[in-house]
Amino acid sequence: MIDWQTVFYALFAVTAWLLFTWQCLRAYRLAQPSEGDGRGDVLVAYASQSGRALGIAQRLATSLPDGARLLPLNRLDLDSLQSARQLYCIAATYGEGEAPDNAARFLSQFAQAELPDLSSLRYQVLALGDREYPHFCAYGHQLDAALAEAGAECAVNCAEIDCGTEQMAQAVDQWLGAIVGEAVTAEGAHSYGEFLPWTLQSRRCVNEGSPGAPMYALRLSPPATQAVDWQAGAIAEIRLPGSAMRAREYSIASLPQSESVELLVRLQYDEHGQAGMASGYLCEQMALGEYVELKLRANPLFATPEGDTPLILIGAGSGLAGLWGHLEARRQSGYRQNWLVYGERSPACDRPYAEQIAELERDAYLPGLDLCFSRAEQNAAYVQEVLRQRALALQDWVSRGAVIMVCGSRDGMAGGVDAALREVLGTAGVEQLENDGRYRRDVY
Ligand SMILES: Cc1cc2nc3c(=O)[nH]c(=O)nc-3n(C[C@H](O)[C@H](O)[C@H](O)COP(=O)(O)OP(=O)(O)OC[C@H]3O[C@@H](n4cnc5c(N)ncnc54)[C@H](O)[C@@H]3O)c2cc1C
Ligand SMILES: Cc1cc2nc3c(=O)[nH]c(=O)nc-3n(C[C@H](O)[C@H](O)[C@H](O)COP(=O)(O)O)c2cc1C
Repeated sequence: MIDWQTVFYALFAVTAWLLFTWQCLRAYRLAQPSEGDGRGDVLVAYASQSGRALGIAQRLATSLPDGARLLPLNRLDLDSLQSARQLYCIAATYGEGEAPDNAARFLSQFAQAELPDLSSLRYQVLALGDREYPHFCAYGHQLDAALAEAGAECAVNCAEIDCGTEQMAQAVDQWLGAIVGEAVTAEGAHSYGEFLPWTLQSRRCVNEGSPGAPMYALRLSPPATQAVDWQAGAIAEIRLPGSAMRAREYSIASLPQSESVELLVRLQYDEHGQAGMASGYLCEQMALGEYVELKLRANPLFATPEGDTPLILIGAGSGLAGLWGHLEARRQSGYRQNWLVYGERSPACDRPYAEQIAELERDAYLPGLDLCFSRAEQNAAYVQEVLRQRALALQDWVSRGAVIMVCGSRDGMAGGVDAALREVLGTAGVEQLENDGRYRRDVY
């Protein structure tokens, strides 16, 4: 006999699952940069790591009356430049005045013996930066100089915006308004809202006894009346109460279903043992029940890959925060092809999320798991060494279409990981992955 109750529950479960999957795909597509359907004679190119320059570029491309082709600078070749009439570049600066990943190769086209002739191109550069760094807006200026040297006509002098200030949003609106007037749209702004008071619900040290600096998992919840939303890869900008300090950014480890953001914050010390302003406050001074001003920011350049694509997550230290949201999202979607390569110092003390990792492994959501410890008595290793040891598996996963996501310290880890990936996959292979959006980094 047919058990109608079971049939009903089964149908209900399948429908709920289909609806959830559809919603995830829709949210993913909306967040992804697409080249748009604008004509090729107006180009809007971006150089962006954490999504701000991309957000401004998307707003500009959708506000221009005849549309525009929107693309990262790495995908802009000389032929497209020579046949275009107008180019807008929105370019952030990283490292020692360097380009973000998705623009790192663009200027090499200008370094050839014969300069390209861009005399029929008009261009305008918006340089994004932060005055706390010594090479303020340096990459935007390099770009501006290279285009001028190739004979392109500068429509308006290179503008600079300091993204560490509260006036940033206004300066962006002004820059966009000067180009498109009233037509400027908010689409692609990539902010899920404004600064709101978020309350500290809990804080626990995740590495008691570690030879490294303490790291804390903090849970913060939004004001009760506020509906909040974000996707894995998003960033929390935090301002301390009563402080003129610039906002600090933290990767969000949780998903909105938990109704709170979880952060993994490493307590920073300077050489005199003085704690960093934000990490000191968040880890040591802030009391439970107190609030900080927090704003959520999307980072579509560090989004979870679509579908059941194999996913390799690589990180160290507090970088686990930026990877964790993706693992949660993959579990929610039922996607199991995940490989986590995570490094810390001591195998005895540095095991954040140990129980959750064991649970994922038990439930077959982590067919690849490499935990490595630089201070272990046996088999001490950094993540980049593990990648070299696991070269064959890495090549296999990549040949099956894997996306590689890296999160954590730029100098301490990401540089070494990049070098190891180039050894194992070849420089051309890594560049191709970057070009295809399969090498995504949230590094700081
Ligand atoms: C996209 C992004 C994501 C991030 N995600 C995370 C994350 O998930 N977890 C995390 O822990 N961090 C993360 N960070 C780093 C974080 O934003 C802060 O930079 C970090 O917490 C240090 O901030 P602070 O205010 O505590 O230190 P600051 O006060 O800004 O000091 C920074 C460093 O300089 C030292 N310093 C300060 N003053 C002096 C001085 N006078 N002389 C010498 N040295 C000095 C400090 O001790 C510290 O080491 C992220 C950064 C970015 C950009
Ligand atoms: C690790 C790191 C390094 C940075 N280096 C510089 C720099 O050298 N010069 C500068 O002007 N801004 C620097 N910035 C600030 C960024 O350019 C700025 O935050 C910008 O808005 C980022 O844009 P994006 O979100 O599109 O990547 C740096 C930011 C980070 C996180």
